[in-house]
Amino acid sequence: MAASADIELEEQFAQKRMSRTTAARLARYLRPYRRTFLFNLACTLSATATQLLGPKFIQIGIDRYLAPAATGTTGNPVQLAAGTEAAYRGIFIVSLVYLGNLLLGWMLTVAQVRSAIRVGQGAMNDLRIAVFEHIQRLSLNYFDKTHQGRIIARADTDIDSLDRIMTWGANQMLASLMTLAGVIVVLLQYDWRLCLAVSVVLPPLFLATRLFHIHGLQAYRKVRAQTSRLTAAMAENIAGVRVVQAFSREEENLNRFQQLHETHNALALAAARVFHTFMPFLGFMSGLGTLIIIGYGGTLARRGEITVGELAAFALYLGMFFGPIQTMGDLYNAVLSTAASAERIFQLLDTEPQVRDRVDAEPLPAIRGHIIFEEVWFRYETTPADTWVLHDICFEAKPGETVALVGHTGSGKTSIISLIARFYEPQRGRLLMDGIDLQSATIESLHEQIGIVTQENFLFTGTVMENLKFGRPGAEDGEVIQAAKSLGTHEMILGFAEGYQTRVGERGGNFSAGERQLLTFTRAMVARPRILILDEATSAVDAQTERVIQHALAELFARRTCFVVAHRLSTVRHAHRILVLAHGRIVEQGRHDELLKRGGHYAKLHEEFVRQ
Ligand SMILES: Nc1ncnc2c1ncn2[C@@H]1O[C@H](COP(=O)(O)OP(=O)(O)OP(=O)(O)O)[C@@H](O)[C@H]1O
Ligand SMILES: [Mg+2]
Repeated sequence: MAASADIELEEQFAQKRMSRTTAARLARYLRPYRRTFLFNLACTLSATATQLLGPKFIQIGIDRYLAPAATGTTGNPVQLAAGTEAAYRGIFIVSLVYLGNLLLGWMLTVAQVRSAIRVGQGAMNDLRIAVFEHIQRLSLNYFDKTHQGRIIARADTDIDSLDRIMTWGANQMLASLMTLAGVIVVLLQYDWRLCLAVSVVLPPLFLATRLFHIHGLQAYRKVRAQTSRLTAAMAENIAGVRVVQAFSREEENLNRFQQLHETHNALALAAARVFHTFMPFLGFMSGLGTLIIIGYGGTLARRGEITVGELAAFALYLGMFFGPIQTMGDLYNAVLSTAASAERIFQLLDTEPQVRDRVDAEPLPAIRGHIIFEEVWFRYETTPADTWVLHDICFEAKPGETVALVGHTGSGKTSIISLIARFYEPQRGRLLMDGIDLQSATIESLHEQIGIVTQENFLFTGTVMENLKFGRPGAEDGEVIQAAKSLGTHEMILGFAEGYQTRVGERGGNFSAGERQLLTFTRAMVARPRILILDEATSAVDAQTERVIQHALAELFARRTCFVVAHRLSTVRHAHRILVLAHGRIVEQGRHDELLKRGGHYAKLHEEFVRQ
């Protein structure tokens, strides 16, 4: 179902051209690189100029040194010999100049491509970071509806496709446009009658281009939608492979898949046909133009109204006229899909977090970390209306206390923590932070004072050091190292390829789950939050490592209010308060030994734990 929603979304976007606002927004990302961009523009312009000069040199060569020798205007053999020698020299010089121009053009093109890549990469990197930060800010309930992984994956592929266009496609397009404009201007400098004669190919050319864009666009869009359907079907099949097998539906599913595939092939073929009709047509029109030049231009030259050199240059320029049109045709589809990608990215950036500040919200002062839950009831948006995820939750956490939350899967531990961090808001009751109703405070002022370490440890692209400073960008390197030492992660970090300067790959993929975990711990330590939340934070760390960091954790817990969710009860033994949850209710509350003695839920949980 989610997949079909995706397809709808994609089709909805694919039908749009790049709107002016999207283009303007995209351009804003180029602004920091405007110098390089200007340099790139200058290079592109100069490269185009060298290109346009080429035929000019050939024209000079022909008119000055070839044509007179060929016609041999004087009959005097001595003069003719002298003239021939001068002509050879002239041809040589013109060839040299032509070569020089060619080399210059080459260098300029290299500079052009390099600077274009620099601008594109820079801008796209900034966009990536913006998207990432935004995803961080979105409240969790955004992810209830659209799965987080898919959103990030989609944003990633969208930025990649944008990247391709922004780094070379846009520049290619620009260069083509410049060449086209240059060629038209130059052609008009020559004989106007010839221009007029050649321009008879323009109306069919424009018509063909227009038709190509319309049909090509439609065909291309259909292929894309079908590709999405195909991918969705494949994903569904893979995800549900057990179910498919259990119900022996392989045959049926295969048939359905084959049908989808056949449609896809037919559509792709149709799209290719549009494309492959257009390109030869373009070639034919170019040939027709040359024909007119040779026929009509030849007559003009014979009559001496234009020179042979001019005729040759004209033909060469006309050849340069069709190249850019072809390039732009090629790029058209890519640019269209870029528009869709850009709009999707901006739509994501425009998604406001659902939990928002009240209009009269005030920033929290520096908090001590005194938290009270007053008869809190809570359900998610997708929870059925007659059920609650949290029932009448009441408890208090004094400043500096460590509160442990235990209970079976689905009992509501993470939900309680999400309320403290105000990722969600309760429907009934309220949360007090140092006596202030949490809902009257700004979210930012709360998040500044809270540190959360969960099972999903997000690391960002950048160095380890940058990642560790994420929660407090102003921190000194020394403070970071100090924090790592006190937590016992310093040695591990030094063991990385480049220590603190080791680069973190995409989403921290180059570290093990345990390493990522320890890094996020250190990050929380560096941030020095008043309230620290660990939601199954130690589950990816092996028991040995956990023991090692245990005393450091105790240190970390000592000066702040902490909430700890852990399945391993060894971590919660020393908590000031243990909340035992079952089906969204607090069923027991107290210290470890008290609860053990009572012989209730906690004792049973403990028994299960010891038996494992
Ligand atoms: N984002 C959500 N949207 C809808 N329902 C949710 C959401 N998150 C959790 N729930 C539901 O709320 C209930 C409590 O979930 P919660 O994540 O708080 O449990 P938990 O105690 O943290 O479990 P675990 O030990 O598996 O992490 C569960 O029934 C769960 O299905
Ligand atoms: Mg949980």
